[in-house]
Amino acid sequence: MTSILNRTDRDIDQAVQLLADGKLVAFGTETVYGLGADAQNPTAVAAIFEAKGRPHFNPLICHYESTDAAFAHVTPNDAALRLADTFWPGPLTMVLPRRVSCPVALLAGAGLETLAVRVPAHPVASRLLAAFGRPIAAPSANRSGGMSPTSAAHVLAGLGGRIPAVIDSGPCRVGLESTVIDLTGQVPFLLRPGGVNLEALEAAIGRVQLGISPIQAEQSRSLRSPGMLLSHYAPKLPLRINAETLDADEALLAFGPLLPGAQLAFQLSERQNLNEAAARLFEGLHWLDAQAPARSLGRIAAMRIPETGLGLAINDRLTRGAAPRG
Ligand code: TXA
Ligand code: MG
Repeated sequence: MTSILNRTDRDIDQAVQLLADGKLVAFGTETVYGLGADAQNPTAVAAIFEAKGRPHFNPLICHYESTDAAFAHVTPNDAALRLADTFWPGPLTMVLPRRVSCPVALLAGAGLETLAVRVPAHPVASRLLAAFGRPIAAPSANRSGGMSPTSAAHVLAGLGGRIPAVIDSGPCRVGLESTVIDLTGQVPFLLRPGGVNLEALEAAIGRVQLGISPIQAEQSRSLRSPGMLLSHYAPKLPLRINAETLDADEALLAFGPLLPGAQLAFQLSERQNLNEAAARLFEGLHWLDAQAPARSLGRIAAMRIPETGLGLAINDRLTRGAAPRG
């Protein structure tokens, strides 16, 4: 059962309690309803992908109470500072480099070195973020492939019974998703048109590039051919999947009891729980990449992950990482 919360302080407190317990809460923003989880809790973030039924991990937007809170986790450039001044709180999402100290779960950014951040302008979203005191990772609150919801009823139609709660926040003023702008390159790139229009962006920061950004070009190539992928989506070391035995130069990405002979292993989930494994996947790949060379290990072998539930998304990412490098 999905409970419907209202806008009283008591209901907001209940939502905060759910988030703190690692549970999902759908809430209204001025654009569309988001499916929120504690962005710093990787298991909670994994539950988002599970509830949406997504067959792959894509990076999520992190929602913040204030500009200062957002820029404590990513590094703004001049354009970002100007855009924040002009459009936040509001329907604009900026992709910026994560700070080294950024505590947001790697899974929320799909393992990328960048993070999409936004300060929403909706009283329910603002109150929830302020009361929770931490960023909330939230994609649109619909099943994978469905339409973005703009009312609590839409959320229930798609995710009813799959999530603990939705806050009935009223209708969404903007009704379409936030504009996503990538500020990590030489030129600002519009990744997704949305609530803030191009003219307004260009009035604030000058020319914004349209069309396909380098990051999108790589993403679409990687969708057509799993061998081509964003370099930071894959570990640096060669990766072998579905390993049943270990070679002498391999570090192990384990799922359940270790394979014999493991000199260095990262355990995704001792009890073979797919949600836990998803939550630890990117952390594990980064950790093995960093630790293996000191042990003179030059490759990573990943144990077989079942093709059910979040196993599909885990295998999608591992298969990409294991494909021949072009
Ligand atoms: O209005 C909105 O943006 C809503 C509300 C809930 O805030 N959220 C939303 O999230 O639409 P979602 O997950 O459905 O869309 C996020 C978009 C995707 O197109 C994703 O690829 C892009 O943002 N994105 C997120 N992080 C990124 C990153 N690090 N680099 C490039 N694109 C990123
Ligand atoms: Mg969406």
